[in-house]
Amino acid sequence: MTDTTDDALESSDPNDHPTDPDEHSDSDYDDGTTDPGDTRETTDPGDTRETTDPGDTGEAMVTPYAVEGEVDYDRLLAEFGADPLTDDQADRFPDTPLVRRRIFYAGRDVDRYLDAAAAGRPHSIVTGRGPSGPMHLGHVLPFYFAKRLQDATGATVYVPLSDDEKYFAKDLSFEAVGAAARENLRDLLAVGFDPERTRFVVDTADADVVYPVAARVAKYLTPATVEATYGDPPNVGLGFYPAVQATHLLLPQLVDGEHPTLVPTAVDQDPHVRVCRDVAGTEHLPVSKPGALLGKFFPGPSGPGKMSTSDDAPSILLTDDPETVERKVRTHAYSGGRTDLAAHREHGGDPTVDVAFQFLRFFFEPDDDELDRIAREYRDGSLLSGEMKGLAIDRITEFLADHQRRRAALGDLEEELDPFRLTDGERSRALRRSGVPSIP
Ligand code: TRP
Repeated sequence: MTDTTDDALESSDPNDHPTDPDEHSDSDYDDGTTDPGDTRETTDPGDTRETTDPGDTGEAMVTPYAVEGEVDYDRLLAEFGADPLTDDQADRFPDTPLVRRRIFYAGRDVDRYLDAAAAGRPHSIVTGRGPSGPMHLGHVLPFYFAKRLQDATGATVYVPLSDDEKYFAKDLSFEAVGAAARENLRDLLAVGFDPERTRFVVDTADADVVYPVAARVAKYLTPATVEATYGDPPNVGLGFYPAVQATHLLLPQLVDGEHPTLVPTAVDQDPHVRVCRDVAGTEHLPVSKPGALLGKFFPGPSGPGKMSTSDDAPSILLTDDPETVERKVRTHAYSGGRTDLAAHREHGGDPTVDVAFQFLRFFFEPDDDELDRIAREYRDGSLLSGEMKGLAIDRITEFLADHQRRRAALGDLEEELDPFRLTDGERSRALRRSGVPSIP
């Protein structure tokens, strides 16, 4: 298991999955095809390829519920049928290190979204959170990214919280998931979205709209599709859940009418996008296929792509105070430096495996020239491992101070959330467009 997923860009934590991964060994994890007996046309070229079961080859496996082995990001694209982001596409996004440095490195149908944004036509972002515990630094990056896009081009942003999913997937009580959802909502509100253009949707709390739409979607999803994409579900709840996440991705269009939607997320969530695109392609609902912007995993404390057996190295939480950040980085962040000072001065360190440097590269040092200088001085031995950690600690602490200030300024959760919830009109529009009758 890589601990890179420990605080992936919003990926699920595979370590907590109650199901023995060996149980899945004979399923086709990578194959996102729909039931071959289905007569619908799928237009995604990636949806028709055949792949081998990684369980047989010993290679990495990535599904929404398990990330194992060394992640080969390029190979995943070939498997999933997504495209690397082109320079032209990257240039058309509002400037952010996450795209410039290809942390978001691949996508599907990115141009349709960018065209609409450039032309001032309706365009939306959906990026969600599975509330299974406190949010780490990596979890929050897609939301700051979404806010950046909202500020730059007026994107509508939908933030679904899949409390049902985490109840099904983890060994947690509903109460524990609910408590996590409430805490996570405070962090998500602290990002500072525009209430006019942002909707938070909680699966259980907004079931009046989520459930009927999910039922419409579920009718076009076969158990074979679900199993081929996610593996054998441990309970029927998780077997149904892909219909719920597909609903999240379609909601902006069901509320506001057909338009390009982009889903920025860690690459392990791509199977959900593929399933949703298949259903959108059936044309039973008045929607076009959502696009995706796929991100790399935020480095875990033990290093990017590093294997670890026992993972007690703690991730940095959004609620950590400066001393805690300092302690976690100083004592747990894997260093690419040399073990003794003389050797480091002589041979230099390796920023590519240095977790403190990777924190800076992912997000926390926005200036490219500065980042290059830091990497250069690390390699030539003039910048020491402790100094690298100091830089990361400073930047992360500044970021968290701002985030925590906004979080602390929030009042009662219900009141703060209210302007971000679907209005009655939006709920009935979504149901009407889905062809769900209102009863009574
Ligand atoms: N399933 C995601 C997770 O496990 C959370 C999520 C729910 C999500 N709906 C989404 C992510 C829509 C992206 C888009 O973390």
